[in-house]
Amino acid sequence: MSTLVANIGQLVTLDPAEPDRPIRAGAALVIDGGQVAWVGDAAAAPAADRRIDAEGAAVIPGFVDSHSHLVFGGDRVDEFEARMAGRAYTAGGIRTTVAATRAASDDALRTRLAHLAAQARAQGTTTLEIKSGYGLTVHDEERALQLARELTPETTFLGAHVVPAEFVDDRAAYVDLVCGAMLAACAPHARFIDVFIDRGAFTVDEARRILTAGADAGLLPRVHAAQLEPDGGTALAVELGAASVDHGTFLTDGDVELLAASARAEAAGGPLATVATLLPLVEFATRQPYPDARRLLDAGAAVALASDGNPGSNFSTSMPLAVALAVRELGMTPLEALAAATRGGARALRRGDVGHLGVGARGDAIILDAPDHRYLAYRPGVPLVRQVLVGGEPTS
Ligand code: NIG
Ligand code: FE
Repeated sequence: MSTLVANIGQLVTLDPAEPDRPIRAGAALVIDGGQVAWVGDAAAAPAADRRIDAEGAAVIPGFVDSHSHLVFGGDRVDEFEARMAGRAYTAGGIRTTVAATRAASDDALRTRLAHLAAQARAQGTTTLEIKSGYGLTVHDEERALQLARELTPETTFLGAHVVPAEFVDDRAAYVDLVCGAMLAACAPHARFIDVFIDRGAFTVDEARRILTAGADAGLLPRVHAAQLEPDGGTALAVELGAASVDHGTFLTDGDVELLAASARAEAAGGPLATVATLLPLVEFATRQPYPDARRLLDAGAAVALASDGNPGSNFSTSMPLAVALAVRELGMTPLEALAAATRGGARALRRGDVGHLGVGARGDAIILDAPDHRYLAYRPGVPLVRQVLVGGEPTS
């Protein structure tokens, strides 16, 4: 089944093969066999089995949300209210969710996860990464990844989220467990391995050990770093060739230079860059200072935007809101923010086939209820995602 998307007001392809032409006017798009088969002037569009009329709206790539934690039980709305009243965010709240997640049935977790993923999809997320990290036993981490795998191939083993309560007096034993039996059980269900580097979570040395064990088991490293204070997580991520370093609320000048150097190395034909994944919904929901995306972009680093949807530090999965915040608070242009939320996320997941609408990409697109992509930042909070196509198929 081929699909012609016609009457497009503005087509944002972000095609990496055409870096100087991210946006096309007067263009049409054909998706065939799930992939973008043709992009060109509307007047020259080939015939297709089906025609979708964009009614003059902008068409953009589906969002690639490269960071979420959506397998969990319970909620932490009380913690959120206390935070808004002045209490600081700490990693300690994670243990509350661990207890609720362990107590939840598979069906309860599956139903909640499917609902959250459907909400994200309705907001334009067509590729979604999901982490474990609220089980922290061999069984509960494995089951979280199995549940996530039912929805997405982009799964991340985060056994090293925090040290669970039963190991607080012997954290070395927990690191051994993560690197041993837990990794062995989880690796078949995961693509990535992640560690939360933080004063309340894991040290850089512990993270090195865990990520190296994960890489030996065939998983790609990624890291939570510099969320609550500067740390050595970014340097470790670059050293290990991690796909991404996420949060970056407190990146140092040295961190920015390391990330930029890794992007330069990729551009010169070297290994793929470590992407700086910014999560402005977290700063919004924790009242932390926003990171300066301009500094990263001007230095030449690869930048992604993701939601970090989770019950603690941010319970929004809205990529449009992340884009709006990135423009309002992080110093990005609307096009830079959109590129970071699509192509940037794809780079952070080491995927070349999503996050853009060049020929050969997956036919994942959003028809906006707006004539121009800039409306995403211009009209925050307004439901501008009119229709979502996945592999060319309308999802509603
Ligand atoms: O990405 N930073 C660590 N993990 C999550 C928060 C998890 C939680 O608070 O439950 C994050 O912000
Ligand atoms: Fe996170």
